[in-house]
Amino acid sequence: MLKLGVNIDHVATLREARYRGRGWGEPDPVASALACEEAGAHGITAHLREDRRHIQDRDVWKLRESIKTRLNLEMANSPEILAIALRLKPEITCLVPERREEVTTEGGLEVASNLGPLTETRKRLNGAGIEVSLFIAPDAVQIDAAARCGSQFIELHTGAFAERFPHPREREAELDRLIAGASQAHALGLKVNAGHGLNYENLLVLQEVPHLVELNIGHSIVSRAIQTGLASAVTDILNLMAGYRG
Ligand code: PXP
Repeated sequence: MLKLGVNIDHVATLREARYRGRGWGEPDPVASALACEEAGAHGITAHLREDRRHIQDRDVWKLRESIKTRLNLEMANSPEILAIALRLKPEITCLVPERREEVTTEGGLEVASNLGPLTETRKRLNGAGIEVSLFIAPDAVQIDAAARCGSQFIELHTGAFAERFPHPREREAELDRLIAGASQAHALGLKVNAGHGLNYENLLVLQEVPHLVELNIGHSIVSRAIQTGLASAVTDILNLMAGYRG
């Protein structure tokens, strides 16, 4: 069965837009994670960025205490975040680029030219019982490097596929790259996840890619929750206002 990891960063983005620096506020990404699990999600994904632009440290610790499925911590290969991950012990970490120099043209991690530092981090995480995934473009050189790094998973970056989705010929080219990448990774013994930009429209086509274990999806799920939840949110407010007697 293809698994779903829900990325809850976008919930925290909305909270930080109003409550930044306050240590509290709504919407609560932890409550949202529990609702996702209740609905059947197989895991929760959160990215503790070095700049703490959305998910905060307190969020990852509360997630660690509360969720019943798997916690996937997305992180840059930075000493500070690595130290947190080693104490937090998520089931899996996905190493992602945060700085421009770590980014390939497609937006994934540049594994091939950072093999030494990434392998060192991979070993430390595995040594703490944490699985490791590398977020990479469907690029043969990067996939080969991921296998040499010894990570258990790769997460194929589906952003280019999502961007080109409206243009059939370009969409097919991106799909072919994902299919080739997944096949190469599988043949090298890597488990294959995928994510970024997946939505209710492109998901069916994406499922032509073989060997997928889990999809990490955030923005489109949070967007749909806002669209489908607005009517009842307005009804609730109107009910509270209905008792006004001037
Ligand atoms: N996977 C990774 C590694 C990501 O960085 C992100 C974006 O935070 C996602 C998946 C989810 O992408 P989206 O929010 O577009 O669904």
